[in-house]
Amino acid sequence: MSGAKNAAVAIIPAALLVDGVCRIENIPKINDVTLMLEIVQEMGGQVRLLDDTTLEIDARHAQNARVPYDLVRRIRASCYYIGSLLSRFGAAQVPPPGGCDFGVRPIDQHIKGFEALGASVEVRGGFVYARSPGRLTGSVVYLDVVSVGATVNIMLAAALAEGQTVIENAAKEPHIVDLANFLNAMGANIKGAGTDVIKIRGVPRLAGGSYTIIPDQIEAGTYMTAVASAGGEALIRNVIPKHLDGISAKLMEMGVEVEEYDDAVLVRRRGRLRRANVKTQPYPGFPTDMQPQIAACLVRAEGTSVITEGVWDNRYRYVDELARMGAQIQVDGKVAVVEGVPHLTGAPVRACDLRAGAALVVAALAAQGVTVIDGVHHIERGYEAMVRKLQGLGAEIRCRELPDADAMSFAQ
Ligand code: EPZ
Repeated sequence: MSGAKNAAVAIIPAALLVDGVCRIENIPKINDVTLMLEIVQEMGGQVRLLDDTTLEIDARHAQNARVPYDLVRRIRASCYYIGSLLSRFGAAQVPPPGGCDFGVRPIDQHIKGFEALGASVEVRGGFVYARSPGRLTGSVVYLDVVSVGATVNIMLAAALAEGQTVIENAAKEPHIVDLANFLNAMGANIKGAGTDVIKIRGVPRLAGGSYTIIPDQIEAGTYMTAVASAGGEALIRNVIPKHLDGISAKLMEMGVEVEEYDDAVLVRRRGRLRRANVKTQPYPGFPTDMQPQIAACLVRAEGTSVITEGVWDNRYRYVDELARMGAQIQVDGKVAVVEGVPHLTGAPVRACDLRAGAALVVAALAAQGVTVIDGVHHIERGYEAMVRKLQGLGAEIRCRELPDADAMSFAQ
């Protein structure tokens, strides 16, 4: 498995806080990373690729510039530049972020955090303007909802602030812990990441250093569901099995065998899948970013399954596409009822976002006949070499379009 997307897209803007060179290893080669690096370069930061998975960022001479709308609208994590620019320069001008469309994606909790640290924040003319008269000042922030993005942004803003910041009701995802570990490796003082109370004692300077990004929990989970869907067996290497507990437990409930090793999981599926109910929740609950892929397995399980989406208002846009392949799913608000069918049939379908695209691949691997998936640029945002990895497992899959320009530029 490759490095974690959602850790990488938080660590790249964090490199803007560092008064030195950051060497980052296990960086995934995906389009979201390319975009985040382009934004650093727009600011005058230097990015040097050392090898396939290692790069150096030197942002010592970066300037505070307006983050271009064209880059930001394509990726949600671009909003992390608000926290990092505010922290480094005392001001940020960033358009509201884009990314996958799951209904309303507010940033009120991010803004509440910046304001608690002494910044003034205004949204006008298509930009978020954040400004602090001097150094930001540590404070207590209680998040009204458990938000990955707000937790990241407040950590970024607080890392160089005066005094201590406490984030209560913080997100606990592995990528939150990874960001804290990265910042600590650069000289920050952050404790409690991975629990719901994170304490950040601001330091005057981060000095640079080396850091290795954790493996991607969701990428691993996606290949686990690919095995569950298609049957057979795969050893999924370079994972942290603990991060996969929620996914493994659900797959085992569905009749899939999962054996854990130190840094690998062996996944095997022989008989027909059994039904299961799934409720998505913040970590350590079942991840919302695995909801479409597990649904793509449940559509062929024996019996009726109920999926409850506990994080996003509208994350079932892929359902109509699975229905084209013969899946029977009824959606009512945040609940989807899945009637398992014995088989799916290949069809032309369209990926509407990243994990929806992954779910279509998972379903297609088990469908009878050929499935043609359109909109693969969504998949390229977050999965490194998915086609090659699946071919290695014996899947008949190929990419008919050339990778887009962004993917190529990172590969060079
Ligand atoms: C992150 O998005 C991930 N993205 C998403 O993964 C993931 O689905 C999500 O966390 C939940 O795990 C990245 O890490 C780049 P949130 P984020 O703030 O930070 C509400 C993927 O597929 N909320 O944790 O945007 C919000 O509406 C992507 O890799 C507020 O109300 O998610 C949602 O219901 C897609 N106000 C809930 O909190 C706020 O200010 C969780 O959102 C912020 C969020």
